[in-house]
Amino acid sequence: MDSCNPMRHAPIDSHLFAANRERLRMLLPPHSIAVMNANDVPPTNADGSLPLVPNSDLFYLSGIEQEESILVIAPDAFDEKLREVLFVRQPNEHLKIWEGYKLSKDDATKLSGIKTVKWLSDFDTVFRGIVFDAEQVFLNSNEHKRADSQVETRDSRFLRRIREQYPLHTYRRLAPLLHRLRLVKSKAEIDLLQKAVDITKDGFERVLKFVKPGVNEVEIEAEFIHEFTRQRASFAYNPIVASGENACVLHYNQNDQPCKKGDLLLLDVGARYANYNADLTRTIPVSGKFTRRQKDVYNAVLRVMRASIAGATVGKLMRDWLRESQMMMNEELLSLGLLKKSDIKKQTEETPASRKYFMHGLGHPLGLDVHDVGLMSTPFAEGWVLTVEPGIYIPEEKIGIRLENDILVTADGPVDLMSEIPVEAGEIEERMNG
Ligand code: GLY
Ligand code: MN
Ligand code: MN
Repeated sequence: MDSCNPMRHAPIDSHLFAANRERLRMLLPPHSIAVMNANDVPPTNADGSLPLVPNSDLFYLSGIEQEESILVIAPDAFDEKLREVLFVRQPNEHLKIWEGYKLSKDDATKLSGIKTVKWLSDFDTVFRGIVFDAEQVFLNSNEHKRADSQVETRDSRFLRRIREQYPLHTYRRLAPLLHRLRLVKSKAEIDLLQKAVDITKDGFERVLKFVKPGVNEVEIEAEFIHEFTRQRASFAYNPIVASGENACVLHYNQNDQPCKKGDLLLLDVGARYANYNADLTRTIPVSGKFTRRQKDVYNAVLRVMRASIAGATVGKLMRDWLRESQMMMNEELLSLGLLKKSDIKKQTEETPASRKYFMHGLGHPLGLDVHDVGLMSTPFAEGWVLTVEPGIYIPEEKIGIRLENDILVTADGPVDLMSEIPVEAGEIEERMNG
């Protein structure tokens, strides 16, 4: 095994993580310490567990993906060597036999660019040695607005313990600082996101050749995971492979129904490579040819997606961007005969007429998390990566169509990271039949 690269992805230049630590230091007030913890390995039943999902903030600042690791950033520590310290589990014979490779101190330094690496068992002593050089301790908690978990995290246990040990320090929220930083992607991050997008494209192209009447949704999911695993990636999220009216279930994950001739198939599937996520949606005709009606609805969604991509400009507010897409969608739904002028007259700001057929948001930031962190009350800025995902769902016609591309906001206008992935109805048909 390549000792310095226990993960499947290619090694990442540690400058990415060093630059991120520097950006965090710029945001920390004087006399601060910031601490990031690894995620827990999620338990299942009996002695089972799920694979570890690396903590996004810890990865962002160190490139470390190993369980139980802790990163401490203490810019004002008296001892210069302790201004950034990484703690990792000490490898031992038992771990080696049962779990295999664990990071050595040298390997942790190579991955992260952090010179001082200590064993986890030394944490309490080392932390005590620096905590009194600081007045405030910045700790992490999950501040994603839609997070809804009953499970206590390693971060929250850590917070409780440290507050008890050092009750007279001031405790502050690290999340707003990291949300601000992570929203703006660097060139190295955009390259990794593009890699995830390119793998997703290969999966989709494989599926275009595979889908025909009679194949089951499970088989299509298997085609994707074959391509992703081959390319050292995984699913970024539970894939949605939804044929016919299943496409109108927004979070359909069952993916076990046969695809019928004449139906549409909605594929919301993205690859995750080196912890960076792609998020793609395409809707294709099971038999390789759209009906007239399907194509009309499809092109309506495509026009709204394209106009919304063009509208993702520096300075735009998420709220206004969504509203613009809803107004465009109103017009499309009028032309499709799904809305009447009187429906539009009755709409209010909170309940746009389009909501009946387009009931979800237009997009979200994308990065180390699929629904990435970020301050959505601030205007779009250079370096943001967003998804653009309008849809029209008409269960009574067995039509559910969503299209989703990932884009980068730049000063010169939006750049579509998915411009190479087939999306025109004609091209989809050609690829399916060619
Ligand atoms: N697949 C999750 C989303 O599109 O937001
Ligand atoms: Mn998606
Ligand atoms: Mn999405």
